[in-house]
Amino acid sequence: MQEKIKQGRDFLKAELWGSADAIVPDQQLGKPCPPVEKPFDPQAKRIQLPLPRDVTSKATVAEVIGQRRSRRKFSTAPMTLAEVAYLCWAAQGVQKVFGKGEALFRTVPSAGARHALELYLAVGHVDGLAAGLYRYLGVEHELLLVRPDSNIMSSVAAACCGQAWMSRAAVNFIFTAIPYRMEWRYSTAAGKLIALDAGHACQNLCMAAESIDVGACAVAAYLQQPLDDLLGIDGREEFAICLASVGKK
Ligand SMILES: Cc1cc2nc3c(=O)[nH]c(=O)nc-3n(C[C@H](O)[C@H](O)[C@H](O)COP(=O)(O)O)c2cc1C
Repeated sequence: MQEKIKQGRDFLKAELWGSADAIVPDQQLGKPCPPVEKPFDPQAKRIQLPLPRDVTSKATVAEVIGQRRSRRKFSTAPMTLAEVAYLCWAAQGVQKVFGKGEALFRTVPSAGARHALELYLAVGHVDGLAAGLYRYLGVEHELLLVRPDSNIMSSVAAACCGQAWMSRAAVNFIFTAIPYRMEWRYSTAAGKLIALDAGHACQNLCMAAESIDVGACAVAAYLQQPLDDLLGIDGREEFAICLASVGKK
């Protein structure tokens, strides 16, 4: 078997737990716990988000599961800030902060509650938000403006292998990983755990969208460096891992 295919299969297996080449995690070596949220400039523009209870869905979980579909056709109608806030909360919302912020419970599960993901929003048309790149701050339930950018949607589509339909979304949500948060506890097993976490978080977002009659589609076909460059992240300590395109049906 080709070595790269074998590597892909090995990545999916559980053999890294306790294997001979496992590396002792930094947590066991007594190194400090990394921050649960990526630090931000307190002077940067932040937008307070409506509370998730401001958007309610009448659909049952069974109805949402039963009608779920990947949706790539979006109308030009803008999404409301309340709808976007609801999707942010569903994908990465914070339910409880422990101690002085050493650990979190979020609306999504995470291996060892390490929560190694961050969530960015490429905003095309949302009422009350200028087009541009934002980051969701789960602890604060706010959006941090990374930069205004009127071309952000076509840039995201280009970085996603030219998937033009993505440029017509109201918002392209982009999950990134900060791998050290998971490696600190799980060292060599961290990669698989982060991938599993990303799937859980992205599915929460897609199901929440379906529950409010908003279309969503998970996306993993993207070019790593162009997307990381677009987000202004280094591609080593933080890199994109998957996306979800969202818009009114
Ligand atoms: C991890 C993952 C990555 C995906 N990547 C893309 C993608 O890059 N582009 C796309 O159009 N759809 C993408 N999809 C959506 C799938 O194509 C879709 O789930 C599949 O066709 C089945 O359709 P359904 O979700 O409506 O059941 C992705 C789905 C998943 C779960």
